[in-house]
Amino acid sequence: MSVTIKSAREIELMKAAGEILAKVHQNLEEELREGMSTWEVDRIGEEIIRSYGCVPSFKNYQGYPASVCVSVNDEVVHGIPNKKHRLQEGDIVSLDIGLIYKGYHSDAARTHGIGTISENASRLIQRTRQSFFEGIKNAKSGNHLSDISNAIASYAESFGYGVVRELVGHGIGANLHEEPEIPNFKTRRRGIKLRSGMTLAIEPMINEGRLDVEWLDDDWTVVTQDGSLSAHYENTVLITDGEPEILTLTEKEKSMM
Ligand code: MF3
Ligand code: CO
Repeated sequence: MSVTIKSAREIELMKAAGEILAKVHQNLEEELREGMSTWEVDRIGEEIIRSYGCVPSFKNYQGYPASVCVSVNDEVVHGIPNKKHRLQEGDIVSLDIGLIYKGYHSDAARTHGIGTISENASRLIQRTRQSFFEGIKNAKSGNHLSDISNAIASYAESFGYGVVRELVGHGIGANLHEEPEIPNFKTRRRGIKLRSGMTLAIEPMINEGRLDVEWLDDDWTVVTQDGSLSAHYENTVLITDGEPEILTLTEKEKSMM
């Protein structure tokens, strides 16, 4: 399959899917508290998704057992919710959520702090978020994919952070994962030319320490090899002839921009 250009009708559905996912993130963030298990985070997240009449896209995707990927501290992505794992003050927790609305997907991730977190942790979260915005400054039709990737990487690397290479962003639409792959690091390829009507999930995963990651024995959870903290920030984005449209921003985020 090649990169798809969405029709006007598909774009309307993608926008609706994105708006709902933004609400899911905002609602779930409000529920987060110390002492809650990561299993509860998933259960509440799934309830919220279904309350909007949507289907969680991660559940059973290639055998992934939950609706929300909950990744704590040195867990980079794809953490599996667990009744015994309780959130503690000072933790940082990445919530990655995908849903389907009338056949169309949205995908977004945020990293939150539990209670008071260290200066280092909060800087990592902010800078990971900012690396996404640096990237999409270049998400204009006519530019190449590498313009996004390079901007994310140079920004994150300027702080000495490790940019994860084993996992990448992706096209999104009637499928969760479509072409193209979207690296967050510099490569020797220019990548495809961006065109109006493409919808992309751009998702920097940034480690406070080295870029190396490894997989736990559950075959899902990705952790930093050096045990350093990791943050994740992802939105579903629409490429236009002008500025890109971010389809999964929460109202809270929009009001702060
Ligand atoms: N945002 C992630 C991705 O784009 C989440 C997928 S998790 C999975 O791949 F469980 F669905 F695999
Ligand atoms: Co994704």
